[in-house]
Amino acid sequence: MPKPIKILRTRNELQHWRAGLEATRPTVGFVPTMGALHRGHAELLRRIRPRCDVSVLSIFVNPTQFGPSEDLAKYPRTFERDLELACAQGVDVLFAPAPEEMYSSAHSTFVEETQVSRPLCGQFRPGHFRGVTTVVLKLFNLVRPKLALFGMKDAQQFFVLHQMNRDLDLRVSVEAIPTVREPDGLALSSRNAYLSADHRELAPRFYKTLAETSTRLRAGAPLSATLEAGRQALEACGFTVQYLDCVELPTFNSPNVVLPGCPYLLAAAVYLGATRLIDNVIVNPAALTAIGYSAPSFEPAESS
Ligand code: PAF
Repeated sequence: MPKPIKILRTRNELQHWRAGLEATRPTVGFVPTMGALHRGHAELLRRIRPRCDVSVLSIFVNPTQFGPSEDLAKYPRTFERDLELACAQGVDVLFAPAPEEMYSSAHSTFVEETQVSRPLCGQFRPGHFRGVTTVVLKLFNLVRPKLALFGMKDAQQFFVLHQMNRDLDLRVSVEAIPTVREPDGLALSSRNAYLSADHRELAPRFYKTLAETSTRLRAGAPLSATLEAGRQALEACGFTVQYLDCVELPTFNSPNVVLPGCPYLLAAAVYLGATRLIDNVIVNPAALTAIGYSAPSFEPAESS
């Protein structure tokens, strides 16, 4: 019979539980989320399970990573379904605090990564990554994991957190898993549920265009003209493109050219109606292993 999941709601409960592990020093694996769990999250949990003795999932819709024009109140909250998914994946502990538990009214300290967080989404969502790093640092301090897994769909978030982990000597293994996709290529996201039938039909063109753009860049096509062609192709079929850009990894500097054998992140954010979608492709992923990132994280995504 599977072990029942332990649901903890307060920092005190979590810290008390964590202190109780000191005697046996198990490997703690951690998957932080904002809930509305889907198959992408299930994949994170499935992958972390064999790599740790104890797995912790957090569900916390973090107010500090939402901008004033982004609707925090509308973010889907599906606790009962999330709990079922967590149980099915054999999660040991679910930490699901209330907002006031994580941020007292006197909260005044934030953690900011100042390089990797700047371009791409950082340009259009001021304060977003500051909210992400702040909450993830708080969660790391509470859970004290050995390993934390994130999805590559949010590639910039992963690189920002990887950088924070290094810069602040947190000593957590911060790793990413490949984006989980629908059979037609659309990256799984809780936002996909907001797409109309027409937009859902169009949506797979997003990844297809990114993948084609990446292939052209790898073949030596000129950078800015190729990015512009990708943008125009997306706009022509009905997407509103917020950005489509390419940055060097892991610095997130802007390249002038794409060099063979060097790693880059090709990433975009688009709108279909009011729904914002993000996706990305790593160009030359094998080159990332040479600089300390684990290769499976960046392999081309599989359909599932
Ligand atoms: O990716 C998410 O769900 C969130 O940004 C995270 C990492 C849980 C921080 O709130």
